[in-house]
Amino acid sequence: MTGLSANTRYFYRFTWVEGGTRSPVGRTKTLPSGAASQVRLAVFSCSNYPAGFFNAYADAAAQPDLDAALHLGDFIYEYSRAGYASQNAAALGRLSDPDAELITLSDYRRRHAQYRSDPDLQALAAAVPMIAVWDDHESANNAWRDGAENHQSGEGDWAVRKATAIRVWHEWMPTRVGADPGKTWRRFDFGTLVSLHMLDTRLAGRDRQLDIASYVGAGGSFDGARFAAEVADPNRQLLGAEQTAWLQAQLQASTATWQVLGQQVLMGRMNIPAPVALQQITVGAYAALVQKAQTAPGTLTPQEQATLAAPSIPYNLDAWDGYAAARETVLGTARTLDRNLVVLAGDTHNAWGNDLLDLQGNRCGVEFATPSVSSPGFEAVFPNENPQVFAASIEALIGPLQYADTSRRGYLLITATSAECRGEWRFVSTTQSRTYTATTGRTLRVLPGAAGRALVA
Ligand SMILES: [Fe+2]
Repeated sequence: MTGLSANTRYFYRFTWVEGGTRSPVGRTKTLPSGAASQVRLAVFSCSNYPAGFFNAYADAAAQPDLDAALHLGDFIYEYSRAGYASQNAAALGRLSDPDAELITLSDYRRRHAQYRSDPDLQALAAAVPMIAVWDDHESANNAWRDGAENHQSGEGDWAVRKATAIRVWHEWMPTRVGADPGKTWRRFDFGTLVSLHMLDTRLAGRDRQLDIASYVGAGGSFDGARFAAEVADPNRQLLGAEQTAWLQAQLQASTATWQVLGQQVLMGRMNIPAPVALQQITVGAYAALVQKAQTAPGTLTPQEQATLAAPSIPYNLDAWDGYAAARETVLGTARTLDRNLVVLAGDTHNAWGNDLLDLQGNRCGVEFATPSVSSPGFEAVFPNENPQVFAASIEALIGPLQYADTSRRGYLLITATSAECRGEWRFVSTTQSRTYTATTGRTLRVLPGAAGRALVA
């Protein structure tokens, strides 16, 4: 469609002439031009149909003044009916369709169609335009350029499955398909206030994830030197060379107040003590040891001293943490250009607020990471941990981490003005019923300018 005015709400519907039917009326909004006073975005990831109801979508659909919804991926999940997070699906009336794991064109189409039947997703789609990128589950778990954790040899050629998933994603998502459907990186300018750079960290250029278990030797010894060297390998790619160069050119060309990256995986440096990362000790037990070292250091056993002396290492090697040099390139570009960098991330199912520092400790930007719409978070991985203690322990262990909520589902509201960029984490009380309440869990802001590059209350 052409001839639309900037910064204007439009209503639309579809008519099927031969069938004599009309769709419900949808509402959309065009991008502002010039000096926009405010941009407000609702940010989502990890909407898992069998895991629960999409109450986060319903809450966002009722928010006033949204310019757009951003979906950072895992819009669908590829698993079979008996697969991940499906324990309550039958009771909720949300069994996955088709029954089997998605492989074929018809499989992927049916799954997208099922998700689109959800009334809360329909309400969101009718309320605001959506800007989306895929993560891994639109194709298969922990996908990378040439494979995926959840793609086995008996499931055919990965290149075919990947192309199928990409084709169906474009069929069902509001995107423009270019000459190469696999190239989805693109920029949206909200006037001179926000440049939103949508990235693909998943399928276009990503090298294979490292496996932390491959650095553990006999007796549980950890080859920290080899691990550190391979994580920092300057050749390791997450965006790939072409997309990296594109992003650098956009950051150079755009002088918008806020340079926002809409992308999948966590960029914040989440180093945790190696014994915790290797699951030799729980977060809570480690925090208790730190406490003991402060209050009664003489009582520490040699083994406890060794645990406390172990280095901190990244634990999520599927995130930017597993691609350290690629992250330095992005952070270094933003810093050199003196841009106000705000990174949006999903993928982890939990809520995070991070300061983004390069390896020299320079402040380069901040990260707001959205919780999942419905996929389970750390409360399901560590059911015996108290969620408040768990989140507080991680916040204490990880320096750049300013905020964590590891047990609640919801979404993120981002409001950018010339004075600040604000993130509000919205949480729903449950995903197991369509009756719910929603609350704002935390609000953090970042101010423009080199002196402001940190999350503040
Ligand atoms: Fe997910």
